[in-house]
Amino acid sequence: MSGQDGSPRRLVVGMSGASGAIYGIRALQVLARQNVETHLVVSKAAALTIAMETPMTVREVRGLADHAHAINNVAAPVSSGSFQNMGMLIAPCSVRTLAEIATGVTTTLLTRAADVALKERRRLVLLLRETPLTLTHIRNMATVTEMGGIIALPTPSFYTMPSTLDDIVDETVGRVLDLFGIDSGLVHRWEGAPSPRAPRADDPGSGAHTDAAVPIPATPY
Ligand SMILES: Cc1cc2nc3c(=O)[nH]c(=O)nc-3n(C[C@H](O)[C@H](O)[C@H](O)COP(=O)(O)O)c2cc1C
Repeated sequence: MSGQDGSPRRLVVGMSGASGAIYGIRALQVLARQNVETHLVVSKAAALTIAMETPMTVREVRGLADHAHAINNVAAPVSSGSFQNMGMLIAPCSVRTLAEIATGVTTTLLTRAADVALKERRRLVLLLRETPLTLTHIRNMATVTEMGGIIALPTPSFYTMPSTLDDIVDETVGRVLDLFGIDSGLVHRWEGAPSPRAPRADDPGSGAHTDAAVPIPATPY
């Protein structure tokens, strides 16, 4: 089985030490279901966030991937452009990892693999989690974008009416996998605005208020 461009159906997955280890974990679970071969690189800080934010051990997370490579092993296959794959997803991505990728001064296998994705003109998606942002963060995002990478933010889409944290995580994971042409089945595909519900007495503009109605946008972003 191969990817859209004929490359092997194989994805490099990085997890760095931003909050949101669950995004990387969920992506690995979904990719296994989609028969995508995964090569995982976990930063030292991500090992901390996995322990602090999830009930899983780092060993268990590494076990979700087909291949897990040590962070300092720059001799791993994913360190070379000759190792064919569909690209790399870093989920979650810290601003420190972003900075290394933006500058090209890569100190670990994780950022080396991202640099390789860029130089080979493969898809690189950074699920960046930080707020608020400094000008340096924003400039680094612009630099990576100029190099062909995609900055995706794990911001929920409320028009999908999520009711659990899993709903929110799944929607975000589904959207970033979409960027690799992988249809996870997790995305609520927008098919136009639903029919408006019947107005309630307390709705603005219903007649119960004299205030001007707040306009409701017809389409989502
Ligand atoms: C619990 C926890 C949450 C963190 N959340 C964030 C975050 O949301 N974004 C971020 O950029 N860094 C965050 N950090 C800090 C990074 O882990 C730290 O900058 C680290 O050096 C990143 O290294 P890495 O990019 O090699 O993984 C967090 C650290 C901890 C322990």
